Amino acid sequence: MRMYDIIRHKRLGLALTEEELRWCIAGYTAGDIPDYQMAALAMAVCLNGMTPAETAVLTDAMMRSGDMVDLSRFGNATVDKHSTGGVGDKTSLIVAPIVSALGGVVAKMSGRGLGHTGGTVDKLEAIPGYRTELTPEEFLTQVEQVGVAVIGQSGNLAPADKKLYALRDVTATVDSVPLIASSIMSKKLAAGAHSIVLDVKVGSGAFMKTREEGEALARQMVDIATACGRQAAALVTNMDVPLGEAVGNALEVQEAIAILQGKGDPKLRRLCEALAREMLCLCHGWSEEEAAGRVTAAIDSGEAFRQMCRWVTAQGGDATYLTQPEKFPAAPAYPVCAPAEGYITHMDAEAIGIAAVSLGAGRATKADTIDHAAGIRLLKKTGDRVAAGEPIATLYTNRPAAVEGATAAYLEAVTVEDTAPAAQELIYAVVR
Ligand code: URA
Repeated sequence: MRMYDIIRHKRLGLALTEEELRWCIAGYTAGDIPDYQMAALAMAVCLNGMTPAETAVLTDAMMRSGDMVDLSRFGNATVDKHSTGGVGDKTSLIVAPIVSALGGVVAKMSGRGLGHTGGTVDKLEAIPGYRTELTPEEFLTQVEQVGVAVIGQSGNLAPADKKLYALRDVTATVDSVPLIASSIMSKKLAAGAHSIVLDVKVGSGAFMKTREEGEALARQMVDIATACGRQAAALVTNMDVPLGEAVGNALEVQEAIAILQGKGDPKLRRLCEALAREMLCLCHGWSEEEAAGRVTAAIDSGEAFRQMCRWVTAQGGDATYLTQPEKFPAAPAYPVCAPAEGYITHMDAEAIGIAAVSLGAGRATKADTIDHAAGIRLLKKTGDRVAAGEPIATLYTNRPAAVEGATAAYLEAVTVEDTAPAAQELIYAVVR
């Protein structure tokens, strides 16, 4: 087999065979196929696409390129959740205890923040003592005993994807639905859960800018899971505004606690309930009505919050920060005020994420350390009426020199106009 012929086939719009795809991934992972040939193939895929069968084989080959977590001892009760990335997305912190309080087995590997988007592992590290690295034995024992563990992704999960993703990032080949779908699903499938719920974000703070693109990605990921013998469902959801009222690590943990205590932003709660419902329908075979009722009851009874405390304690975290969230260190606060009277008609969620990074809530380079106290509290969001000079957000930072730039960036990211905008949907579609 020659890489030259495979690139040419794809350039001519032909479907690659299973043998060709597996040969490419094995050769690229081993270092036998050079970056320039793989980049040419990625570009041909971007231009000519892949059939569902090709995408499933590519995913399977990347999934098998490194470690695969064996969760078979938990039967079919294991369930995972993945968000394609957004700003203020703390849903995993809320959904993991709800689902595990209701008997779903959540053995989850999560990522760190990337660019303007936050990451669950960074948020969990805001809780003093929380261990995001466990040995495989510790991880599985905790899952067995508590029903939930959330750690950082193992270094050797889907190494073919790691290499290919880095290459795509610098060759303008990220934007391809089959490449994104196979990249995400290779890691999720290698992480071992039988059922997977995907939250495909769409809008100004997301990879997918249109609802159509989001639905196409959701459909492909669900179909890949089915082709690989797992079950999946996807919600296609709004990321045109940051999710909830906080962006930044400790602030988002505090917001997750509030939701599990029956307080906080109703839209955030609604999305978390929908994600938890889909997870429980898949892993227990419950009807939507039954799952929805039990999710609401788990929050309202306090059981989901108590499960969060059990989970965090088991993983070394100091749960008094959950019961007394005022213990989280606060950074100095700086108000951002409305430039004019009117309605907020648009928020650029990506720009708000970047502003939060500049305050210390994320990393500009891999080597940067995160200030867990830094971030932004959103006091007014799209659709809200504001008076001129009224505070619309609070910036929290230990970097006073960053305040002026972040304030200007925030104001640039928010549009205030005379007429109220149309109400925005939260969940655009459910793909099963
Ligand atoms: N996230 C991934 O893991 N892979 C992609 O290709 C895009 C987003």
